[in-house]
Amino acid sequence: MISLVVPTYNERANIARLVERAGAALAQCGEEYELIIVDDGSADGTGEEVQRLAADGRPWLRLLERVYERDLSTAVVAGWRIARGDVLGCMDADLQHPPELLPRMIAELRGGPADVVVGSRHVSGGGVSEWSVWRRFVSWTATLMADFILPGTLGKVADPMSGFFLMRAEVIGSAALNPIGYKILLEVLARGKYQRVAEVPYIFEERAVGGSKMNARTAVQYLAHLVRISLDSGEAARIFRYALVGASGAVINVTLALGVFISRFSWPLPLAALGGAGFAMVNNFVWNELFTFRDAHRAQPGGAQLLVRFLKFCAFSVTGVTLSLAAIAGLHYGLHLGFGWSIAAGVFLGGLWNFLMNSNVTWAAWWDRKLLSKAAQPPVPVGDAGGMVYVPCNLCGSREYRVLYAGHAGPAAALTEQAFRCTSLQHGDFTNIVQCIRCGLLYENPREPEEIIETRYEQVEDAVYDREKEGRVRTYSGMMPAIEKYCTQPGRVLDIGCYLGVFLDVARQRGWQTFGVEPSAWAAERTKQNGHEVINAPLRRTNLPAESFDLVALWDVIEHLHDPLGELREIHGLVKPEGIFALTTMDTGSLYAKMCGRRWPWFMRMHLYYFTRGTLARMLELAGFEVLSIERAKRIVSLRYFLEKAAAVLGPVGPLLRLAAMPLGSLFVTVDFGDNMMVIAKKAGQRAA
Ligand code: GDD
Ligand code: MN
Repeated sequence: MISLVVPTYNERANIARLVERAGAALAQCGEEYELIIVDDGSADGTGEEVQRLAADGRPWLRLLERVYERDLSTAVVAGWRIARGDVLGCMDADLQHPPELLPRMIAELRGGPADVVVGSRHVSGGGVSEWSVWRRFVSWTATLMADFILPGTLGKVADPMSGFFLMRAEVIGSAALNPIGYKILLEVLARGKYQRVAEVPYIFEERAVGGSKMNARTAVQYLAHLVRISLDSGEAARIFRYALVGASGAVINVTLALGVFISRFSWPLPLAALGGAGFAMVNNFVWNELFTFRDAHRAQPGGAQLLVRFLKFCAFSVTGVTLSLAAIAGLHYGLHLGFGWSIAAGVFLGGLWNFLMNSNVTWAAWWDRKLLSKAAQPPVPVGDAGGMVYVPCNLCGSREYRVLYAGHAGPAAALTEQAFRCTSLQHGDFTNIVQCIRCGLLYENPREPEEIIETRYEQVEDAVYDREKEGRVRTYSGMMPAIEKYCTQPGRVLDIGCYLGVFLDVARQRGWQTFGVEPSAWAAERTKQNGHEVINAPLRRTNLPAESFDLVALWDVIEHLHDPLGELREIHGLVKPEGIFALTTMDTGSLYAKMCGRRWPWFMRMHLYYFTRGTLARMLELAGFEVLSIERAKRIVSLRYFLEKAAAVLGPVGPLLRLAAMPLGSLFVTVDFGDNMMVIAKKAGQRAA
């Protein structure tokens, strides 16, 4: 069965013809099929139009409406999640991808060895109808960058930017896809499991109606996506190693040529330069073989292959030098650019060529981009994972997940209360970050049993939080206007996980009656001493009166809860019918989080769930809430605290940063990487006060 996914955003004018032409083409494929339209809250009625078409005798047409997500590639992934077919595919809705090509693509997939069949503009017979030189240049540069980041693609996939392809479902069977922006094929190529990619030519037609939604935001998302793939695949580290080796070669070249051959042996310049370059080339080859591409060397240590690689390396290096010299001459004498800039540009171009060709050709034979797919293998749940427990998805209940980032985990009992402090510095320590197969929620699995987590929170003492209170006061004060927009009169506020009661202090100053719930005995006691009514227990053991609060707040707490949906339902019962519920948490759908990949600092043992705007809105809906607003949430922290956190994340420079941070406790900075969100909600079906 073929499941073809079409992402749409404001495509009402195109959708009827697309459904007609794609339906007709799929019917010709000689097997069962479904067309899944994933619409991201189009304002032009695209969703309604699809429903109308489906109801009109098209059982194979399905619609998935997304509200709080707006992204082409995650829309496609969401469509694949609900797909029933053993062949998955995607294409655009604006008929720039010809549906009539589908029968040929499916024949190629069913009849041949390929696991992925791409509709390609860059194989013979393919092309684009009327693209400006600028759009061609942008597309060419984007492809070149992909070849740079995903060695082994060059020569294997001519159009990795294509948005039109079919694949066997098992290609992404065990892969947790976490794309951003437009380039879904790139994510599949980087994370999927496949042997062969086939390309079928087509002409990318002009859009009949409407305009491309590609803009500066999608360009930035593309760069973020590339950065993440290169970080997660280790390619960024390889580029760094390659540059290091290149630099060592440059040093050898200059030292030998100038220091030895000319000054010591008074060789003529050209001979000295040749000598220096020769030694540098051998040096670079040896180090690249042993250091940069050591996996290739280990896989094929044979003498013959080594020689072939050396010859290829020399050929590409010589061409690279020629290219640099030509660029320098052209820029300096042709375009009258300054000598310094010309040299810099020339060296960069030569280096780009060298890495591109050597990583793709010289060593590509052994570069296995499937490292990512290996990494995505779900670990086999063991009987006893050091006292850890495996849990189902808290949003949809599914027990099926894919590992997005495999971590490491010491035995549960080893974790002390330090790991559960709000100011914990244990960034990047996690068991596994997994993605629910059915709804896409990210969560940690396995994790500590509930009892251990609860005991740890009871024991928490956090002197750093106390030291940094001023930053919180400023942060919460800045958040109040957004809340007061929905609660015009101060009333009874309940802060769940109120810690040292800083938010309650701010609310009391603005006339609110303050109540708190806090599991940490140390923190609850301190808040009580500040005159707030606090219950020292987890929420479900508090027995608070139903529907008795005008505002319930949950600041940076939901991600710590072992049953967030259960807790939200509990909270729903506490909010007055016209009351408001407000929370903050991290946003893993943000550009910054997606760019950092597994290095995103907020992947930590104390965080059990990671939300996007979509999954959080979905969970609130299930708990009976209706979202009123979702905004980026910024924080104000002291420069000292900011640098201490940075020190914990930035490894080797850490100690230096920590030192520098000491005297900066009274300077404050606003931190907003866009990976934090604030949500305000009301009870569904109720009018907010
Ligand atoms: N659900 C959803 N959400 N769909 C979206 C979004 C979004 O945020 N943005 C765009 N789309 C849909 C459009 O409605 C259209 O159906 C499709 O994605 C492609 O959008 P275009 O804006 O028309 O893209 P393009 O023509 O510039 O580029 C396309 O072709 C290139 C060449 O194959 C894309 O497919 C590119 O990825 C591809 O490289
Ligand atoms: Mn288009």
